[in-house]
Amino acid sequence: MSAVDSVAWQALAAHARAPQPHLRERFAADPQRFQHFSATWNDWLLDYSKQRVAAATMPLLFALWQAADVRGWSERMRGAEAINHTEGRAALHIALRYGKGAFLHNGRDVMPGVRAVLDKMERFVDAIHGCHWRGATGEPISDVVNIGIGGSDLGPRMATQALAAYRHPGVRVHYVANLDGADLATVLEELQPRTTLFVVASKTFTTQETMQNAYSARAWLTRELGEAAVSRHFVAVSTNLTEVARFGIGAENVFEFWDWVGGRFSLWSAIGLPLALAVGFPHFRELLAGAHAMDEHFFAAPPAENLPGLLALIEVWNTNFLGAGTRALLPYSQSLSLLPRYLQQLEMESNGKLVDRAGKPLACAVAPVLWGEAGTNGQHAFYQLLHQGGRLVPCDFIAMREPDFALPGHHEKLLANCFAQGEALMRGKTQAEVRAEMLANHIPESVVACLAPYKVFPGNQPSTTLLLPRLDPHNLGALIALYEHKVFVESCIWNINPFDQWGVEYGKQLASRLLPIMEGKAPADGLDSSTSGLIAYCKK
Ligand code: F6P
Repeated sequence: MSAVDSVAWQALAAHARAPQPHLRERFAADPQRFQHFSATWNDWLLDYSKQRVAAATMPLLFALWQAADVRGWSERMRGAEAINHTEGRAALHIALRYGKGAFLHNGRDVMPGVRAVLDKMERFVDAIHGCHWRGATGEPISDVVNIGIGGSDLGPRMATQALAAYRHPGVRVHYVANLDGADLATVLEELQPRTTLFVVASKTFTTQETMQNAYSARAWLTRELGEAAVSRHFVAVSTNLTEVARFGIGAENVFEFWDWVGGRFSLWSAIGLPLALAVGFPHFRELLAGAHAMDEHFFAAPPAENLPGLLALIEVWNTNFLGAGTRALLPYSQSLSLLPRYLQQLEMESNGKLVDRAGKPLACAVAPVLWGEAGTNGQHAFYQLLHQGGRLVPCDFIAMREPDFALPGHHEKLLANCFAQGEALMRGKTQAEVRAEMLANHIPESVVACLAPYKVFPGNQPSTTLLLPRLDPHNLGALIALYEHKVFVESCIWNINPFDQWGVEYGKQLASRLLPIMEGKAPADGLDSSTSGLIAYCKK
């Protein structure tokens, strides 16, 4: 029986139908609300007291966790069962950061292979940083371009930006993903073939965008340096060694990973190579250690203390019982400004599904639309809607107690803004408060009467604040793993497979059908009038 059919689910539905006090009333009624609805892990703090939860809500959500058999599914993951059943694969990203001991998959220990690739990555990173690996003309490598898309781009790109304070001075790392030639062209404009290294990162090594960009990059390089230069300027990260060889990259320049690593869970594998080149290998190992620490927390802590579990349960409460269709991710950290994009893939590609594990239509809403922006920038863009747009938009604030770039005067203001937004969204401002405030400022009654309605804030907008001590490799690893496990817990509750992504296939299939038509090599037969009209207009 799935959690959606459980007694806990029914009880939560009844609980949600009962009158729900405004968040400001909840705070007024319980001066200890922060203590009652917050959790810590090491020196992290998760404050969910500004969520629309009551004392009775959390035990019901914990019962839902039990009904979803989160522990059973976690054990299946750890036991390397093929929980990605539609692709017949295990989901073993946790093994990539396991560090010590053996990790069995089909009776074989995967750890020697994992460690061998990590060691090969380390040697390579050290060779580039130490200028032992040089380009075809003997010059050291100054720029690395990662060519990949989706899971082969978003993770290392986000983490490279997040760890800007840890950058190795000798090498600049760039990322190219888009099929639009503007992406590659604008990056190459700044670079010299003699000093550029390309990392072609693709699990399948067949992804259209990546292969097009890789071949264009290769043409750019060989135009100046000749074919023989490819082996000094291209390395690959892939599970598909045959296709890598066909591209012309020798086995010695391939960093392997395995089909039990999903694309959006692959940062911990050799897909992390450009990040390791950007920040150095000791920092990459720290990232893995941080993720492993979060794994241990997730697998051991009861739901009331389990940070990924709490985030997941709150999202289920907001989505399935309060009717939220979206969630805003608001890191008050410029370095984490790519986190919303990264989590869009992690959360929406994983849990944006139509059917359950048995292939039956889902009876409940799943993954809300995730979006967001770094604070304070978002405040000057879309926060107006959060405050007065009349929509329920649960918000996740993320902030660091210490800055990663300590310019005097910045960080306190940043934190003050972060906490003020959570407070404003929770509390709101009534018409009576608006009037009193305006009159106290000696504004004439006629103006007060006219403007007061525009200055009312309904409040009651739920938010969670996650406070980390600082943004370092260890905490970043743990933060990413936190969201991976959150997604996993939700998938247990919604009874879906979070590790496949069939929904991205149809568009790819149709694009390959349209390409020969666009190129004039096939007739535009059988197309709808819009698609054929668009193609005809382009060819005019
Ligand atoms: O968009 C679908 C997808 O398969 C993602 O899951 C994956 O991260 C991305 O394409 C890139 O795939 P690959 O690493 O095989 O090039």
